Amino acid sequence: MSEKPWGGRFESPTNEFVEAFNASIDVDARMYAEDIAGSRAHARMLCQQGILSQEDLDAILSGLDEISGEIERGEFEFTIALEDVHMNIESRLTARIGDAGKRLHTARSRNDQVATDTRLYLRGRTDTIVAHLRKVQRVLVELADRHADTIMPGFTHLQTAQPVTLGHHLLAYVEMFERDAGRFLDARTRMNRCPLGSAALAGTTFAIDREMTAAELGFDGPTANSLDAVSDRDFIMELLAAASICAVHLSRLSEELILWMSAQFRFIDLPDAFCTGSSIMPQKKNPDMPELVRGKAGRIIGGLVAMLITVKGLPLAYNKDMQEDKGAVFDALDNLQGSLRVFGDMLPGMRVNTEIMHKAAASGFATATDLADALVRAGVPFREAHEIVGKSVAYCIREAIELHMMDAGACAAIDPRLTAAMVGALSVESCVSARNHIGGTAPAQVRAQVSAWQNRLEQL
Ligand code: ARG
Repeated sequence: MSEKPWGGRFESPTNEFVEAFNASIDVDARMYAEDIAGSRAHARMLCQQGILSQEDLDAILSGLDEISGEIERGEFEFTIALEDVHMNIESRLTARIGDAGKRLHTARSRNDQVATDTRLYLRGRTDTIVAHLRKVQRVLVELADRHADTIMPGFTHLQTAQPVTLGHHLLAYVEMFERDAGRFLDARTRMNRCPLGSAALAGTTFAIDREMTAAELGFDGPTANSLDAVSDRDFIMELLAAASICAVHLSRLSEELILWMSAQFRFIDLPDAFCTGSSIMPQKKNPDMPELVRGKAGRIIGGLVAMLITVKGLPLAYNKDMQEDKGAVFDALDNLQGSLRVFGDMLPGMRVNTEIMHKAAASGFATATDLADALVRAGVPFREAHEIVGKSVAYCIREAIELHMMDAGACAAIDPRLTAAMVGALSVESCVSARNHIGGTAPAQVRAQVSAWQNRLEQL
């Protein structure tokens, strides 16, 4: 037999550069455990169906055990000459156990093998990502609990809008990460069908038992169409879409942390262990981690776009283009997981300057909407109230004062319905505590949400 498992019909060897260019072993070697698990299930099934002898099965199973040990001990030499993880392991098996190894590939193709391995591997990675997401959620809930009463300015257009509680702001991200986890778990459900037995594209002439291999590998069942199973990669696109959305959420949080840590905001300080300095400017403490996480989002989204474009023009069934799938999704998941890990470890050490936040909320006329609401309660139509408060704000800007500092004369001069009692009652505390309904920013609501999240996250 020639060195290549497919070498029979070839007369001259592979071009040397092509050998390296064609290989995917650098990327797919990490799926070795899944490849071995798939081979074990396949061999057992072949034996049960009378396609493989018990003796051959025993040799295959113990051979695969030994190979698994070799890989784990770092003794296995992967070679680009054998292209990918599938052929590396199969060749090694044959080298170790002889003919039985050559029988393993009966009723199987690398096309269903790679689709199976990839689904198995990504299923495990999905679970790890979700676990990291849960950790970040727990950390944020804990911070929200500590800061249920901490008042900060809420922004729209990055301009001071209304006071909010920091707890409320942080819980907004807990909601986003919850939906992210949901997207990953949804993708996992659709991913969890077993392609094994689809063979190259059309199925196989052997009487295989696909239910058996699917069950043994923990799939919910076999895929229903062999062409679909070996040629679609929507499970990867879906995972990359979930990863991209999650990365966008992390990126927005990163952007806020970066802004809040600036000398102009000074709302927070991130722990030294997660920041770096400058080689020239001695005063610098840079928020590298949120910056890098914000940057990773671009790369993860790049993976999604690359995958969509790779598949969009491919005729059924397998095409070599598809080998590009793993690099994109592995890179994206590695970077997303790293980002989540950094946030889970960094956020508990974040220091919050509650006084500065409070001061920022108390300036910039964040209470203006509440003054308009007070006028409405006194019978003024909202549009007129809006106008009156607008004029009051203009007056305060001219006088360089805040709304609550307006005296009776100033109020009456703007509108007789505006009273010193109304402006005097304005405070950022009353603004937040008044928004006491489902989804509102009041400390009481934040506390209720925190305990709901604690219950939910405890059960996971
Ligand atoms: N290394 C290949 C990949 O990642 C495995 C499947 C190859 N199949 C084939 N017919 N060339 O897609």
